[in-house]
Amino acid sequence: MVKDKRGRPLRDLRISLTDRCNMRCSYCMPREHFPADHPFLPKSEILSYEELASLIHAMIPLGLEKVRLTGGEPLLRRDLCEFIKLIPSELDIAMTTNGLLLGKFAEELKLAGLKRVTVSLDAIDIETFQVMSDTKANPETVLRGIESARLAGLKVKVNTVIRAGYNEHSIKAIPERFLGTDVIVRFIEFMDVGETNSWNLQEVVTGDQMRSMFDHLKSLEANNIGEVANRYKFGNQEIGFIESVSKPFCNDCSRARISADGALHTCLFSSDGHDLKAILRMGASKDDLSKAISTIWNGRSDAYSEQRGSVEHTKVEMSYIGG
Ligand code: GTP
Ligand code: 5AD
Ligand code: SF4
Ligand code: SF4
Repeated sequence: MVKDKRGRPLRDLRISLTDRCNMRCSYCMPREHFPADHPFLPKSEILSYEELASLIHAMIPLGLEKVRLTGGEPLLRRDLCEFIKLIPSELDIAMTTNGLLLGKFAEELKLAGLKRVTVSLDAIDIETFQVMSDTKANPETVLRGIESARLAGLKVKVNTVIRAGYNEHSIKAIPERFLGTDVIVRFIEFMDVGETNSWNLQEVVTGDQMRSMFDHLKSLEANNIGEVANRYKFGNQEIGFIESVSKPFCNDCSRARISADGALHTCLFSSDGHDLKAILRMGASKDDLSKAISTIWNGRSDAYSEQRGSVEHTKVEMSYIGG
């Protein structure tokens, strides 16, 4: 099993399948920086499904256990289910989506081998939802998508980014909407990913502040090492808090990310990735790829969230490397 400089394994791979999205969340792809005519990546620059499958196969001997498909919005990528069928079923295969197209694809995704889906949903009421995601879409479309995913047999989590002044007032309404189901809602602190979302500390609602908005929360043990969410019991439901700003979890971070254009990033907040596409397109074998990835991982010392404020570099956008 490959380890980095701090002894952290490479267990979890996140693949950004496209840098495009059909939403424009203010904290991720603000419309002024990502207008309709934004120069998104051309198809030739994006890794093919076969290329991505080769990278997955090369990482399995290094200790890979989980693959998460992200974007941008992964359901915008054509024939996504054909790719899922190429991923070995021994892996935990999950996807992060905004849910707008989930109703259409849920059953096909499950049949292709997807096991879990995490749906981003920042508000239930239409006004707040439309402001957060800067779309004219209706949150009911996302809720119907979640229902379809559940009916198809996919395990569902919901991710809610809380940004001060935008949606903290509706924090309880989201888990309440899923009462009686096994959907787990996780609240995420607004993070300084990328360079375009005008992040400032005043707009972060910390996990502690969020918890004070709930009554009678009971803390739960972590399911496994490296879990990003701190888990709590709220009535009969489980909810979680992802507190990477106020309580960084770099110590156990076993996540590697591949951008849509084929660069390996060893941290969500990295600036430059390692160009795997060049190696792939030079005809590298599975062993060559395993060795290259292993060398990169051995040299990894990233811990951005622990060092926030003391490092200055240009960070890659979240829509390029996935959530
Ligand atoms: P599972 O354990 O596979 O269910 O998923 P997860 O807990 O890894 O959650 P998910 O992929 O949905 O991540 C939730 C959110 O946590 C992401 O959208 C990010 O906002 C944040 N997050 C995930 N990984 C990292 C990380 O490595 N660093 C930081 N700072 N934030 C992260
Ligand atoms: N802060 C916190 N979470 C973010 N996400 C995207 N941008 C940010 C940010 N600035 C999360 C979204 C989604 C996933 C793709 O990443 O909630 O669930
Ligand atoms: Fe799209 Fe997700 Fe980013 Fe929102 S957070 S703009 S839905 S990729
Ligand atoms: Fe991992 Fe980087 Fe996030 Fe720390 S900041 S948890 S090293 S991705």
